[in-house]
Amino acid sequence: MPRKRKILVTSALPYVNGSPHMGHLVEYLQTDIWVRFQKLRGHDCIYVCASDAHGTPIMLKARELGITPEALTEGYAAEFVNDFRDFGVDFDNYYTTHSPENEALVTEMFKVLSDNGDIFTRTIEQSYDEKEGMFLPDRFVRGTCPFCRAEDQYGDACENCSKTYSPADLINPVSVISGTAPVRRKSEHYFFKLSSYGDRLRRWMSEAELDNNVVAKLEEWFEAGLQDWDISRDAPYFGFRIPGTDDKYFYVWLDAPVGYMASFRHLCERRDDLDFDDYWRPGSAAEVYHFIGKDIMYFHTLFWPAVLAGAGFRTPTSVFVHGFLTVNGQKMSKSRGTFIKARTYLDNLDASFLRYYYAAKLGPTIEDIDLNLEDFIARVNSDLVGKLINIASRCAGFISKRFDGRLANRLPDAALFDEFANASETIAKHYDRREYSKAMRLIMTLADRANRYIDDNKPWLMVKDENKLTDVQLVCTQGLNMFRSLMIYLSPVIPAVADDARAFLSEDGWLWQDASSPLLDATLPDFQPLLTRVEPTQVQRMIEQSQESTPVPQAETNSAMISIDEFMKIDLRIARIEKAEPVEGADKLLALTLDIGDSTRQVFAGIKAAYDAPSLVGKHVVVVANLTPRKMRFGVSEGMVLAAGPGGEDIFLLSPDDGAEPGMRVK
Ligand code: MSP
Ligand code: ZN
Repeated sequence: MPRKRKILVTSALPYVNGSPHMGHLVEYLQTDIWVRFQKLRGHDCIYVCASDAHGTPIMLKARELGITPEALTEGYAAEFVNDFRDFGVDFDNYYTTHSPENEALVTEMFKVLSDNGDIFTRTIEQSYDEKEGMFLPDRFVRGTCPFCRAEDQYGDACENCSKTYSPADLINPVSVISGTAPVRRKSEHYFFKLSSYGDRLRRWMSEAELDNNVVAKLEEWFEAGLQDWDISRDAPYFGFRIPGTDDKYFYVWLDAPVGYMASFRHLCERRDDLDFDDYWRPGSAAEVYHFIGKDIMYFHTLFWPAVLAGAGFRTPTSVFVHGFLTVNGQKMSKSRGTFIKARTYLDNLDASFLRYYYAAKLGPTIEDIDLNLEDFIARVNSDLVGKLINIASRCAGFISKRFDGRLANRLPDAALFDEFANASETIAKHYDRREYSKAMRLIMTLADRANRYIDDNKPWLMVKDENKLTDVQLVCTQGLNMFRSLMIYLSPVIPAVADDARAFLSEDGWLWQDASSPLLDATLPDFQPLLTRVEPTQVQRMIEQSQESTPVPQAETNSAMISIDEFMKIDLRIARIEKAEPVEGADKLLALTLDIGDSTRQVFAGIKAAYDAPSLVGKHVVVVANLTPRKMRFGVSEGMVLAAGPGGEDIFLLSPDDGAEPGMRVK
């Protein structure tokens, strides 16, 4: 066995302003497989993660829903935790960036950097929304592209001509938040002197054994010149306030990666065997790896190592970058039903299938990976069920029925078993290098070999001849042992199935090297099928549910006008308010129960400031009855109530009371 390694592993900290989806899972499953593999090899491997809870989008979404950012992020964090658990992603710790440990660490690091002269301030000019009283990130300004005149483009780049610019260059810029024209306003920002880290970063790059594509990207960035990094944001902001200021906050991307350390520190508080400095100070003997997607490379390969080095910490051993998920060869899409939430998958399919499928597709590079749903069905059925589980199903029955569950005390073909044992180090090397697809291919080749052995020996014929019964026991013992070795090799990928297989083999725990020595003379219980085939209808249902749970895509038009056809699509109805109640955790919302003639609906409406809940009961309102139901934190909203006015207390429900009846259409 190689020496025992001390390894700390992280996955990127997910933003908790939406639900986990199949794209996220590429990363968390890739990491989880690697960690489980290292643990199985007997290494000390720790896997930490956390929710990324700060930043403007989270603040604004919470505001829109009338809840606090804490409530919003806790709600989504709970979804992540549940989905991770049900996909078998097994963290040693899952925490949040909105924690005292994180605030203490980022503040300490900022102080060290300041003391070293790595922080300076500079006044910059940005777009400012006077109505909302806040500075606008580039993405929150839209307008006409100054180059190609395409309308409704983001403030940083044009989706039509791909040119980049600043929001000030847009023609007729508009704040996405208030709809008003932003002004330019100055304010003082804090910067981190990334430009003085060029040499240290180059050295880090050459030691970190990065993938070639990552190195190429870094070279490109060095070539372009390292820009100092703006690490502050003005209030209002959801994050940590910069000490010594009233209204400046650390930019979310400064405290987010520090969240890796904070999550680890939080774990150290509960584990006597772990010491924070032992992993994080220069000269540490531990290895630190970050698994991330290619979209956040700049933060992890430039800012992060530089901040760590400057603040007196060790730098990551390496950063492992994966590509993006496509579904059926295209970007995930709500209208095609391929924007699939983790939960929707779990409602229809076994987590092991996706774990195996991703493993079969994943390599160590930043290439995108495609989830082709037809291929998914075919591959899972042929490899996992048809090849792997089949080995056990073909042998287990004979052992239990004919031999009281007893395995033979020797293998009839030791040389064949050795082929399985000898593959051990090659498979291990593939896992260690994140060449999962190669590992899966080799394992499936061995599974073919095992099935061929059973085909050649035909225990189902031998069993008819009393003289050959001993051979049946031997052949099936051989078969089950080949199955067992493969299950050990696959246990990082399909841990739940491997656990069931291990329970069937009546063993307590497995280590990697157990695959190289056979299990003999043991008594086994009756065999239960470990997995059943995927039916295309299950996948079909998942797609349908993904279409239902998402809003109808916006019509692709640059004009604010709608056609009569579009108007006719809106099903406006008269509704009678049956019940109106405040919503716990939401300052602005009322939960309305509406009678719309043929049925009742629940709708959440942001009218609490304008109306007293009891006064609404019995009122008639106009409701959009065919709005795709929207899942909110407190429940599903099944429509929208029409009202007039600027908002807050000045909201006026359109209440048609002259003889209108619930269910009537409004034209
Ligand atoms: N909060 C930041 C990360 C901070 S790390 C200090 C973030 N969050 S995220 O929720 O947008 O993404 C989390 C991870 O999931 C990222 O590594 C991202 O690349 C990955 N993925 C999100 N969507 C993905 C796909 N569609 N495909 C593959 N991975 C994707 O970025
Ligand atoms: Zn353009």
